[in-house]
Amino acid sequence: MTSVRDRIGRPLRDLRISVTDRCNFRCVYCMPKEVFGKDYQFLERKELLTFEEIVRLARIFTEHGVRKVRLTGGEPLVRRNIEQLVEMLAAIPGLDLTLTTNGSLLARKAQALKNAGLHRITVSLDSLDDAVFRRMNDVDFPVTRVLDAIEAAAAVGLEPVKINTVVKRGENENSILPLARHFRRTGHIVRFIEYMDVGHSNGWRMNDVVTAREIVDMIDSEMPLEPLDANYPGEVAERWRYRDGSGEIGVIASVTKAFCRDCTRIRLSTEGKLFTCLFATSGHDLRALVRGGASDLEIGNAIAAIWKRRSDRYSEIRTENTAGLKKIEMSYIGG
Ligand SMILES: C[S@@+](CC[C@H](N)C(=O)[O-])C[C@H]1O[C@@H](n2cnc3c(N)ncnc32)[C@H](O)[C@@H]1O
Ligand code: SF4
Repeated sequence: MTSVRDRIGRPLRDLRISVTDRCNFRCVYCMPKEVFGKDYQFLERKELLTFEEIVRLARIFTEHGVRKVRLTGGEPLVRRNIEQLVEMLAAIPGLDLTLTTNGSLLARKAQALKNAGLHRITVSLDSLDDAVFRRMNDVDFPVTRVLDAIEAAAAVGLEPVKINTVVKRGENENSILPLARHFRRTGHIVRFIEYMDVGHSNGWRMNDVVTAREIVDMIDSEMPLEPLDANYPGEVAERWRYRDGSGEIGVIASVTKAFCRDCTRIRLSTEGKLFTCLFATSGHDLRALVRGGASDLEIGNAIAAIWKRRSDRYSEIRTENTAGLKKIEMSYIGG
C-alpha cells in the first residue's frame, strides 16, 4: 500500500488518536486549573467516537499509509475499557501500536494492555523530586506511583519504556540530571521535550523554554554523550547515547528546531475531528461522515484529499503573529 503524500511530499505514516479529553492530572503546562476547573465543559459521552468507529477509521487510515497508531488524550487510561480498544486495534495487520500515559493508572493496567496486544508505552514524568512532581501535576500525585508503573510496564514486556519529560524553566530544569542518572542503565529512554505554546491556556513565553541544546550540554558535561542516527525518517526525538554504552536519551526540540519538514503525523480528536498539525486551527469532521452513513471508500477519499491539501509547517514559520491565532488545547488533541 503506497502512502498518500501532502503538498510538500510528506507521506502519511502516523496516526495519533485522542480517546478522551479528560484527565486526572492538571499539569501546569497542559491543563492549568484556572482553565480546566470544576466548570469546564468536557465532551459528553455521545460526542465521543465509539471504539467501533475508531477502529473503522484506523483501518481506513492504514489503507492510506498509516503504519503506527498512538493512543493519547487527555489521559487515555481514564477511558473505560481502553484495553478492549487496544485489542481491537491490535487485530489490524501491520500496525505498530503504542500509547502515551501519565502513568497514574498504569500499574494495574499494564498486564491487560500487554495481553490486549499493545507493543510499547510512553510514560510522562517531569521530575523524580516528589514536591516538584506534585506541583507540576497539580493534583498532589506522588512520584513513587509513576515509578512503580514504569517498572510494571517493563516487567510485562512493554519495552523499551519511553519517558517523556517536559522541561519548563523555573519548574523542573533541576530534575534533568537526576532523571538522566536514574534511568541510565535501565534500558528505558528518557526524552526531554521543549515546553511548547500549545493551546491558549498555558501562558507560554519563550523564556520558559529550556532548549534541547542546553539539556544535551547539561547531561553531556556529567555523562558524556554522542549523537545517534534517527531510527527512521521523521523521528521527532534527536537521539543521543552515553559514550560508555549505558543507554540513550532523546531530546525533542519542538520549539528551537522545528521538525515540520519530516512530519508524517495526523491527529484524530476525541470526537472525530481530523487535524493535520498540532497547531492547526480547525479540524475536519470525520464523525459526521461516519455517522452520516459514508462508505469506507468515501471516508478514505476524504482522508486522502485532506492529506493531499496539507501544507502545515507552523513551527517553522513561528512568528509573533501566531500568538493571536486560535489554537487547540493539547489535552484535547493529544500530544
Ligand atoms: C497531552 S499528553 C496526553 C497523554 C497523557 N496524559 C500524558 O501525559 O502522557 C501527551 C504528552 O504531551 C506533553 N505535553 C503536554 N503539554 C505540553 C506542552 N505545553 N509542551 C510540550 N509537551 C507537552 C505531555 O507531557 C505528554 O508527554
Ligand atoms: S500532560 Fe497528560 S497528564 Fe498532564 S494534564 Fe495533560 S493530558 Fe493530563
